[in-house]
Amino acid sequence: MLKELEKYLEELLENLGYSNESVIILPSSRREFGTFQLNVCMGLAKKYHQNPIEIAKKIISNLDSRFVDINIAGPGFINFNIDSKTLLNYLNKGISNFKIFIPNVPKKKIIIDFGGANAAKALHVGHMRSANIGEALRRLTKLMGYDVISDVHLGDLGRQAGMLLSEIKKRGEYLEYFDSNFQGKYRKVTYTPKKLGELYVAANIEAKENEERMNEVREITAEIDKGNQQYLALWKQLVAISSVSIKEVYNELNCHFDLWEGELDAFKDIPLMIKKMQSYLYESDGAMVIDIKEETDTKEMPPLIVIKKDGATIYATRDLATIYSREERFHPDEIWYVVDNRQALYFEQVFRAARKTNLINANCNLYHLGFGTINGEDGKPYKTRDGGVMELASLINLIRKQINQKMKPDLIVNREDIQEKLTIATLKYADLMSYRATDYIFDPDKFSSFDGKTGPYILYTIVRLKSILEKVQKQDYKILKIENKEMEDILLKIIELPTILEKSLREKSLNFITDFLFDLSSLFNKFYNTYHILTVKNKDIQTSYLAMLQLVYIVISNLLNILAIDEVDKM
Ligand code: ARG
Repeated sequence: MLKELEKYLEELLENLGYSNESVIILPSSRREFGTFQLNVCMGLAKKYHQNPIEIAKKIISNLDSRFVDINIAGPGFINFNIDSKTLLNYLNKGISNFKIFIPNVPKKKIIIDFGGANAAKALHVGHMRSANIGEALRRLTKLMGYDVISDVHLGDLGRQAGMLLSEIKKRGEYLEYFDSNFQGKYRKVTYTPKKLGELYVAANIEAKENEERMNEVREITAEIDKGNQQYLALWKQLVAISSVSIKEVYNELNCHFDLWEGELDAFKDIPLMIKKMQSYLYESDGAMVIDIKEETDTKEMPPLIVIKKDGATIYATRDLATIYSREERFHPDEIWYVVDNRQALYFEQVFRAARKTNLINANCNLYHLGFGTINGEDGKPYKTRDGGVMELASLINLIRKQINQKMKPDLIVNREDIQEKLTIATLKYADLMSYRATDYIFDPDKFSSFDGKTGPYILYTIVRLKSILEKVQKQDYKILKIENKEMEDILLKIIELPTILEKSLREKSLNFITDFLFDLSSLFNKFYNTYHILTVKNKDIQTSYLAMLQLVYIVISNLLNILAIDEVDKM
């Protein structure tokens, strides 16, 4: 609705002789003068050498009946309210159709590269950030009408492959995969994901202490990279086994991937990619590299290695091949990489190489959506109590325990399911609450609290809403009048929603939505503590209250869905 009014105002300015002005309606800083404010007059005054108050008067005398309580303040601010009929008309539509709050944005085709778990290795807390932010962006963009393809881009190549294979070989298992003269039938690998974890840990401990063993690990890793068919056949089975447990974690986090691809999938595209890059590649110390320096650089930009001296590929080679393949298959308008800030320079290098060599269409934008680190109280990356790297599974467990302590002991029906949902809500809300690119300090007790700016608090609000709505007759209520200030506050908050969603999309950060959810929940809870909805005598007032409740419920529920947080019925 605000957008519509803004457009109307732009046309009005055009008619008054001020063309191509963009108008933004702002919430007024002093509500007693009006809820909204326009501050275009001062800018226009400068530009057209006119008196701002005169401009304001001219605008005011042309405004239609949707604008009420209009006044001019200070050097030329126009304050106003929106006529309540217009407001209610709009909001009442929202009760049955959330879509009216979705801003109209240019539709794009995008690929979101997120998740990025590494096969045969445990997920750590950084992978959770990628999953939470990536999934929420996927849902947000889809809601806005984007054509979205999500790809997990599994890290299924690297040192961990060499580790596992060397351990299997050492234990004398599946030896046919290590015998280059083997002619018979290869056995299917039957390890469990758990067993893979054990094999990796064992190999890691030994390789760290034993130089010879480490060399073998390196050798096997390089062999796989160069396409050793036997090793690859074995490794691919291990990747598939480990994918099962990785998928479980992503399911727990409500993540959806359209493509379950990874670095190994990029292999088949490397030859064509190299062909495309050929004229830019040159030899340096036996390796094939590409210059990516640009004239305006202030920092050092060494050439990027594409093929190593020993013929093996690196992380960048696989990302470049993936870009090439994504362009060939999907022709996206944009590719978004939801990856830790610490890979910023790396992505800069890869993007430059891809642009320079036209691996990607010149119109396609590549964005690294870097995110900050999850820190402990000491401001350093969050660790386990004994100082080890925090695995995602341990973090989830930690919160699960906190939630269990905070849940009512007598809540028995569906307890585990509710506990699980509150756990994920806690993690997601906390993770999305700070601006994407900033680090934050992880505070398990605070984040899992049922009060304050937390996931459980929002869920608590929705439980309250649902329980009231359950007690009344199901019907399409309409808001007939704005009865009090608390109610007005809620409704005025809701009309900000399209702006919030647009901002979230523009900044590619979810904190605007978590803030909005908290504000709206607080306003609702304030209203709830002041007015008794079910016993109010006047039918029109009660109908209006119930309609507003339905609206608040629909808004919160849809926003939680963007954040991939599940609702609960009780807690
Ligand atoms: N597997 C990588 C890691 O754990 C993240 C992958 C990110 N995506 C990409 N296209 N490079 O650090």
